[in-house]
Amino acid sequence: MKYRQLGKSGLLVSELCFGAMTFGGDGFWKLIGSLPFENSKRLVDIALDGGINFFDTADVYSFGMSEEFLGKALGDRRKDIILATKVRGRMSKNLNDVGLSRHHILNGCNESLKRLATDYIDLYIVHSFDFITPLEETLSALNDLVGQGKVRYLGVSNYAAWQLMKALSISERKNLEKFVSLQALYSLLSRDLENELVPLCLDQGIGITPWSPLYGGFLTGKFRRGMPGPSESRRGKEQYNFLQINEDKAYAIVDELEIISKKYNATIAQSALNYLLRKPGVSSVIISATKPEQLEDNLKTVDWILAADDIAKLDALSSPYKPYPHWMLEMTRRDRENPDNIRR
Ligand SMILES: NC(=O)c1ccc[n+]([C@@H]2O[C@H](COP(=O)([O-])OP(=O)(O)OC[C@H]3O[C@@H](n4cnc5c(N)ncnc54)[C@H](OP(=O)(O)O)[C@@H]3O)[C@@H](O)[C@H]2O)c1
Repeated sequence: MKYRQLGKSGLLVSELCFGAMTFGGDGFWKLIGSLPFENSKRLVDIALDGGINFFDTADVYSFGMSEEFLGKALGDRRKDIILATKVRGRMSKNLNDVGLSRHHILNGCNESLKRLATDYIDLYIVHSFDFITPLEETLSALNDLVGQGKVRYLGVSNYAAWQLMKALSISERKNLEKFVSLQALYSLLSRDLENELVPLCLDQGIGITPWSPLYGGFLTGKFRRGMPGPSESRRGKEQYNFLQINEDKAYAIVDELEIISKKYNATIAQSALNYLLRKPGVSSVIISATKPEQLEDNLKTVDWILAADDIAKLDALSSPYKPYPHWMLEMTRRDRENPDNIRR
């Protein structure tokens, strides 16, 4: 395992982070994994043996069961790892048991600490934007948690670029703790964040931690053109409708991954993860699994490095749509790169 700085913070995290979203659960969460405790603990043990020191969960994952299972599975080993959890999602029908108000953040943090059986959270992540709470209120509540020692670093997830930049500038102006990482959907099937969020993170020193790097299991080779996927897998279930695909583009990428993987004696999943590890700004890729052999497979991606020509092939097949003003900016950038680029 290799370790990278989380953004420009002083934390060193494994380049693979283990996500505990498949632990426990019923209802909607049953689609994702619903692993009993013993299976969850087995995955935590394999992750730790593989050198992973960075674990991710959230209050909403299986309504607290994921946090409970993760805390219990880590036990004494908790002190040696970087533990991330999230707040923002609705936790009950109580009107205020949701969002990024001071009320919900302070209550939510106490509840997460209890479930995780720990007295501090290394990285406390706001799960998404809250459209009614002023950012000042959210950031000051988070800053207080750091002051109280309940939280050590702050992260953000699923923010638009303007929301993240606004939050960073409020923190700067008011001398509050700043977000150090961004958790965002990033994979060969979802490179949209390269338009705005990646340049922002590079400029501001925010570490990117991609979620759903295998697009919920699609980028593993077990889903093929015209064939039903395995029915026990998340994406093979009829009710699953979370991450949509453009079939032509998606299968072409899987085909290329298969060709590339053979050269490295690797699997399609390993190549898809390896691609993300080569992307600028990425600190740690959040992997997940329902079975030990999946996790063992994914862990092997850290043993080799995808070559530049293979990255270029995958880049070309997966390039994201460039909405305005990005195509215009791309065009106008050229006259700063070379004086011969002049329109007459
Ligand atoms: N911030 C957010 O909004 C957000 C959102 C989603 C996730 N996350 C975080 O990101 C983590 C990862 O997300 P994800 O679970 O969607 O990641 P993913 O890597 O896209 O999908 C993981 C799923 O793919 C299948 N899989 C994994 N490795 C495989 C392999 N080698 N061969 C075959 N199948 C394999 C397994 O599901 P099946 O066995 O069911 O096929 C596994 O549960 C989560 O645990 C969570 O911590 C955050």
